[in-house]
This record gives sequence, C-alpha cells and structure tokens, in this order.
Amino acid sequence: MSNKIYYEKVFKTEDDFEKISELLYELDFNNFYFLENNEGKFLVLVSDDSKELENLESRLPFKLEFIELRTTSSDDWIKNIITKPFEFIDGVYIDPDHNEIEAEYVIRIIPGLAFGTGLHATTKLAAEFLRKYLKPGMNVLDLGCGSGILSILARKLGASYVLGVDNDKIAVEVAKENIQLNDVDNIEIRESDLLKNVDGKFDIIVSNIIAEVLIEALKNIEEFLKKDGVVILSGIINSKLDLFKNFNIVDHRRSGEWNSIVIKF
Ligand SMILES: C[S@@+](CC[C@H](N)C(=O)[O-])C[C@H]1O[C@@H](n2cnc3c(N)ncnc32)[C@H](O)[C@@H]1O
Repeated sequence: MSNKIYYEKVFKTEDDFEKISELLYELDFNNFYFLENNEGKFLVLVSDDSKELENLESRLPFKLEFIELRTTSSDDWIKNIITKPFEFIDGVYIDPDHNEIEAEYVIRIIPGLAFGTGLHATTKLAAEFLRKYLKPGMNVLDLGCGSGILSILARKLGASYVLGVDNDKIAVEVAKENIQLNDVDNIEIRESDLLKNVDGKFDIIVSNIIAEVLIEALKNIEEFLKKDGVVILSGIINSKLDLFKNFNIVDHRRSGEWNSIVIKF
C-alpha cells in the first residue's frame, strides 16, 4: 500500500450522521467518516489538500465545533479508526483487519478513506439488489465505486468481470488498494466522470450516488447496458424518488430516508 499523507479535520457534532452525510453529498464531498465514543460524536473530513477542507468548511450549512486538524498517512488508517467486523448484509461480513470470521463472504475494507465502508444504508440496499440480480458469469459496472466495496462484492458473488469507476482520485486509489487486500482478479478501477471513460456493455450497472447525479447518468446509460440488463440505483432520498417516475422501475426497497430502485429499459 502506498503511504500517502492526508489531512483530517475533526469536528464535534450533535447532528444526526445521516443528515450530515446528505448535506456533504449535496456539496459533492464524499471523503468523510464518523466516530462515536464516550466523549461524543465526531465528523472527520479528509482530503490530500488542506485548502479544500477550508473551502468546504466555509460552505457548510450547519455549525460544527472544531477539534483539530491532523495529518495521517494511509498506513495509519486501520490503527486510527476503531472498527470491528460486522455483518454488512445477510451472510456477508466486512472486516477492517485480518479477523477470523465464519461467513459465506468476507470483504476486507480499509475504513474511512473513501465512502463505502458498508455501514451506510445506501450501500446495503445496493448490495442486497446486487445479490438478488447477479448471476455467475455476468459483468458489472460499479458507477461511483468509492471504496470498491460493491465491485468486490459483485466479483465474490460470481461476476466474471467488474469495472469500477469514480471521479474522485482518492476513491480510485483506495478502491485499488481494497481490491489488492481482497486478492480478487478481473476487477478494473478507473477514474471517470460518470460514463465518460467507460466502454463495453454490462449485465448490471450499479450506482449509489445522489439523485441528481443518477438522473444525469441515466441520460445515456442504456448505451452501456446489455439487452435485458438492469440498472440498480441507490442513494435516493424519499423526497427525490419522484424524479425517477418516468423510468421503468421493476423493483424498489426503502430503508428509512433512503431508497434503492431497479430500472429496466
Ligand atoms: C455514496 S458514494 C458510494 C460508494 C460505494 N459505491 C458504496 O455504495 O458505498 C458515491 C461515490 O460516487 C462518486 N461520484 C460522485 N459523483 C460522481 C461522478 N460524476 N462520476 C463518478 N463518480 C462520482 C463519489 O466520489 C463517491 O465515491
């Protein structure tokens, strides 16, 4: 693993983690994580550019109590964040370290560096649909792959080839590292703004991004879908579900504020 330096700005917060996540996605910022201990609840913003964190802070529509600006290296992450293995979806465990886990599938993920540790409802909803629709031998596009969690899951579930893309450089780097950690082949990770750097046709396209970005992706997604292919979308809050009403929605799941839908063309 490359040992790169990142800035972490730590804030104390009283706000709901889900509400903060949603506001940060709306500002197009995805590199953050939460900590909770007996001293309170904390939001940690991460970037390899300290100026980006300053700019972001001035745009935040909520009040946060600044605690510290610290630097960390990618090698320190597992030590910095206390996380235990947990059951991500039925029979699939996420393990931040080398624990002995008896489960059908175990996915190793470096916690925190990019969105997609498996703790968020939107990732779980997308993963459940992946398991429902993925048949061995299919190929899968993971659009907005973040940590690569869904790409790794798709391969473990039997996909023959997975392409994961993200427009965030940190996510691309982290996804590649997570793939190495999981020792899986036939997964390719690329930097791409939505479908701009994607080629080929897929049986399944899975994408967990905010509703407005998903709507943008849907404009030309059909070009990248095989006949009878499905598009799994996640990250849609209740109030934005209506944006998708003109598509052929063949399946739908909800978890609290969040929705995941399956579209066929
Ligand atoms: C909510 S995270 C999902 C990560 C992971 N797939 C999961 O389900 O946990 C959304 C990801 O989409 C990426 N993203 C946002 N806008 C994008 C765009 N225009 N093109 C490609 N990726 C994008 C973000 O960088 C982020 O990694």
